[in-house]
Amino acid sequence: MRGRTSRQHVKEEEGKETARLVLRKFTLGDAPALAAYRSDPEVSRYQSWESPVSTEEAERLAVTLSAGDPRDPGWFQYAVERRDVPGLIGDVGVRRSEDGRQAELGFTLARAFQGCGYATEAVARVVKFLLADEGLHRVSAACDGRNVRSAGLLERVGFRREGHLVQSTWIKGEWTDDILFGLLASEYRASSATGRP
Ligand SMILES: CC(C)(COP(=O)(O)OP(=O)(O)OC[C@H]1O[C@@H](n2cnc3c(N)ncnc32)[C@H](O)[C@@H]1OP(=O)(O)O)[C@@H](O)C(=O)NCCC(=O)NCCS
Repeated sequence: MRGRTSRQHVKEEEGKETARLVLRKFTLGDAPALAAYRSDPEVSRYQSWESPVSTEEAERLAVTLSAGDPRDPGWFQYAVERRDVPGLIGDVGVRRSEDGRQAELGFTLARAFQGCGYATEAVARVVKFLLADEGLHRVSAACDGRNVRSAGLLERVGFRREGHLVQSTWIKGEWTDDILFGLLASEYRASSATGRP
């Protein structure tokens, strides 16, 4: 919470909007939708959690997530909802480094809402918050080497592929590759000036 004014804090609590989405804190009421998409094996395939996820487990998670603050070190998770239809459709996670100058992203959409550009829109908004509004130096993300939808999203938002780790993570009974992505504030400023997201 370094250097944060109470005015900034109130503003942050209000969440973020994009053309079609609201990014806000989790609430207990999000638990059924959270349990539903975390229980979908297609959604959890390249993620660290095991499906199915019970409503009770999702309730505990929603309560924990609702207490977080996106300016603190560690993970904060935004709940993503459409502006016109209430209800959780996914989430964007941000892990700030201890010194607050870098962050790592993660993201998930319920299957019914994939293929509409919602994840690109939500992640682009969070990247703008981190690199343009908050002045972080670098944002990164990593995905399973087979997760082409995740890699495609990151490239649409402007991330640069910067590494491929071979069989670097043991997950769900197998060794998997990780593709690493990065985006510097300087690159973000340059691409914004030339019309990129
Ligand atoms: C990763 C994930 C969020 C990507 O979702 P996605 O729907 O592919 O990504 P977007 O929301 O950006 O949508 C892009 C797609 O919508 C289409 N689209 C439709 N309308 C659009 C619009 N108005 N604007 C932009 N894109 C639009 C695009 O053409 C693209 O489709 P394509 O991939 O068939 O070319 C999703 O696959 C997911 O939740 N996976 C499970 C969890 C996971 O693995 N997370 C990543 C961990 S690293």
